[in-house]
Amino acid sequence: MFDELPRVRIAFLPTPMHRLKNLGESIGLDNLWIKRDDLTGISFGGNKTRKLEFVVGDAKTNKCDTLVTVGGIQSNHCRQTAAVAAATGMRCILLLAGEEPDQYTGNLLLDKMLGAEMKFFPDDAPLMLNRRLDEIIETLTEFGLTPYAIPAGAAMPVGVIPYAVAMDELTSQFKEYDYHPDRIIVATGTGGTLAGLILGAHMLNLDIDIIGITVMSPAEEVKERVQDLLERTVESYPEIEPFKPTINVDDSFIGKGYGQLDDGVVSAIEMFAKMDGIFLDPVYTGKAGLALIRMALADDIATDSPTLFYHTGGEPVIFTYSELGHK
Ligand SMILES: Cc1ncc(COP(=O)(O)O)c(C=O)c1O
Repeated sequence: MFDELPRVRIAFLPTPMHRLKNLGESIGLDNLWIKRDDLTGISFGGNKTRKLEFVVGDAKTNKCDTLVTVGGIQSNHCRQTAAVAAATGMRCILLLAGEEPDQYTGNLLLDKMLGAEMKFFPDDAPLMLNRRLDEIIETLTEFGLTPYAIPAGAAMPVGVIPYAVAMDELTSQFKEYDYHPDRIIVATGTGGTLAGLILGAHMLNLDIDIIGITVMSPAEEVKERVQDLLERTVESYPEIEPFKPTINVDDSFIGKGYGQLDDGVVSAIEMFAKMDGIFLDPVYTGKAGLALIRMALADDIATDSPTLFYHTGGEPVIFTYSELGHK
């Protein structure tokens, strides 16, 4: 699928898909599996590495030499962009929302080690920084660089395609393991990953519920973003027939807000770790993990209904949440 598009091969693919036997048994699911995009390889992995393979392919086709992107101080997307830039010989400039901390930890520390240049915006929220991209691109161009702008989370048509391709990869694994999930549960921020999975399922004619667990924005807002991203993707790639997507987003697990821990998220993280040795992150996958556990315990998922949890990465952020270790 989309084999002809420019792509740099960076990720370790296919990522593993395996059963979560212990957690499944403890929450009453006979057939709980996990897809491990936390293991995409470079710089501790995560979902953005898949997206960046195609984004950087496009940047290279356009002869760009510098990647410019935006995010929060602890953005996984920024860290993976910095890593892919390093590995493909590009310069990387990160616009980060928030005050520069005295000490660099977690993803910010990794950004620095990867050689990214960083600029801090104390008064901006991460998604607001998208508006600054045009101005920065203009300035960098005046300095003789050929920059490529990547909006927050690589939520752009070329960043949607890779998750349609991931669905194709999953389909091969479903056949290989004779495992056919009724639903996929995935953490959702900008909505790009969800949009790609929906596109892939549509193109492959799969009958599967894809449930996005939003970690910050209300469900309606995320649905609009996903709809808009899909429309722009269909416009950009004429080989995709226009279609009416079913967009399923649950906002019951935002809790106290973006990046805020609560007891439910802490328990979900502990259950994955203590039962199956898997680390979830406190910002994204912890909330999706909580959603899975709560849905199973509330019998919203039947015991024999195969369910796939999509791990999208984010583990370096764990090291900035020392409270996770408190008794
Ligand atoms: C670990 C993790 N999971 C999920 C997401 C959400 O992905 P998307 O922005 O494509 O919705 C992100 C985005 O930054 C992330 O870092």
